[in-house]
Amino acid sequence: GLLGLFFITAAYLLGSISSAVLICRIYRLPDPRQHGSNNPGATNVYRIGGKIPAALVLLCDLLKGMMPVWLGYYAGLAPIVLGFVGIAACLGHMYPIFFHFEGGKGVATALGGVLPIGLDLAALLIVTWIITLKLRGYSSLAAIVSVCLAPLYTWLIKPEYTLPVAMLACLIIIRHQSNISRLRNHTESKVVNKDQ
Ligand code: G3P
Repeated sequence: GLLGLFFITAAYLLGSISSAVLICRIYRLPDPRQHGSNNPGATNVYRIGGKIPAALVLLCDLLKGMMPVWLGYYAGLAPIVLGFVGIAACLGHMYPIFFHFEGGKGVATALGGVLPIGLDLAALLIVTWIITLKLRGYSSLAAIVSVCLAPLYTWLIKPEYTLPVAMLACLIIIRHQSNISRLRNHTESKVVNKDQ
């Protein structure tokens, strides 16, 4: 109904606030859309500016997904509508109306959206991401592996959210196309890249 539509619109607008761009401005760092991987996300801000700005970006991007889903949950939205609220937040992050529709890849915002629906599910995804990162060193690969497993994890733990999570997974994979081609021809940059 109307309430769902309100939450979906609000989530898209909140998601459209590019925390990577704003936090880099505050720290007088170069624009993350023109440096490193050219992606406005926590990984690339880590490459450009180190731990503290990256942690702030991660936190803000998580909150962009978490707040609308959490508030929507308490407003009594049905699971499928809550799923669309999470997707809307990620679409805002990926295609931000306030930043020429040039956004990020949605990993942190999607995780934020998953947190209110299940801490166990979120924990499983985080552990998958960390293990892949430790093994291979690529943030993108860690995200791709986690996102590919997310629909299965969701189906096992919170089956009513499988459809929206699978849709989100598709969106995030699409946003990693350039990473996938770089991984395939061995030119992907690791989180810590010595020649940058
Ligand atoms: O969250 C984005 C990450 O998966 C890849 O980032 O900067 O290495 O393209 P980047």
